[in-house]
Amino acid sequence: MLLFNPDSDPALAAQLNRLLNAQAGALEQRRFPDGESYLRVHSDCQDQDCVILCNLFHPDDRILRLLFLADTLRDCGARSVGLITPYLAYMRQDKRFKPGECVSSRPFARLLSGAFDYLVTVDPHLHRYHSLDELYDLRSRVVQAAPLIAQWIQERIPSPLLIGPDSESEQWVSHVAELAGAPFQVLQKERRGDYDVSISLPDLDEAAGRTPVLVDDIISSGHTMLETLRHLQTAGLPRAVAIGVHGIFAGDAYNRLTEVADVVTTACIPHLSNQIDIAAPLADAVRELLQAHHADPS
Ligand code: R5P
Repeated sequence: MLLFNPDSDPALAAQLNRLLNAQAGALEQRRFPDGESYLRVHSDCQDQDCVILCNLFHPDDRILRLLFLADTLRDCGARSVGLITPYLAYMRQDKRFKPGECVSSRPFARLLSGAFDYLVTVDPHLHRYHSLDELYDLRSRVVQAAPLIAQWIQERIPSPLLIGPDSESEQWVSHVAELAGAPFQVLQKERRGDYDVSISLPDLDEAAGRTPVLVDDIISSGHTMLETLRHLQTAGLPRAVAIGVHGIFAGDAYNRLTEVADVVTTACIPHLSNQIDIAAPLADAVRELLQAHHADPS
């Protein structure tokens, strides 16, 4: 197997190469003076299983080169072309809220489905869609971060109270709570704008003597977490732990959050808050999908 890493997450790529017994694919990439992308594959791909690790946070900067690379690998004779994207972008645009809005999850899914044989990701934001199969027309596997997060909590926090900041987080927080054997609460969120959210008050009686642990799938502007943390601080609760599966941390979100909480993420998006490893389940999912693809390449 050849593993290409066009957007360079060297730590995760090295782990995956080892776990999959893959070779690092050799790639030359640069920009032409006019800003267009130059791409050249130096590895011999003929009859090889190729997989691309390309993490689709800030997707608009990456998607075109990713599609060019997938197309080039096929053109150079690859036996299969798979995608590992620990963060799957555009999943939150799952509804037309105002007339004329692009429901971008759909065209984005069509682009990836047309380019790859299979896709592996970690906890995509499935809210109005219940499964990737409703959207993607290729083999896919979703790695769940809940067991990894639950283990991290069990090993470090003796008496946690898990808090999901909005109804969408219930699927993650309830699963983590069950596995960690901890109580949980789910709050209600009203979002009025990108940076304008309000969160309902937590039930403070349950919090006595416990460390608040917030769990959400995505930390982007950080305002969902910050508003929740503000309630906890006002109530005089001990310093909280804020856990995100995907830490995007737009703007100064990370600095603002670390002023009031210990911030922890999985290694889905490379960041200094990464404390929870995801390589092993990603590799297992790739092996499984590759086997299915070879059994039925259609
Ligand atoms: C949406 O419901 C997600 O689960 C997250 O709560 C949301 O994406 C967080 O965004 P932000 O950090 O910008 O508040």
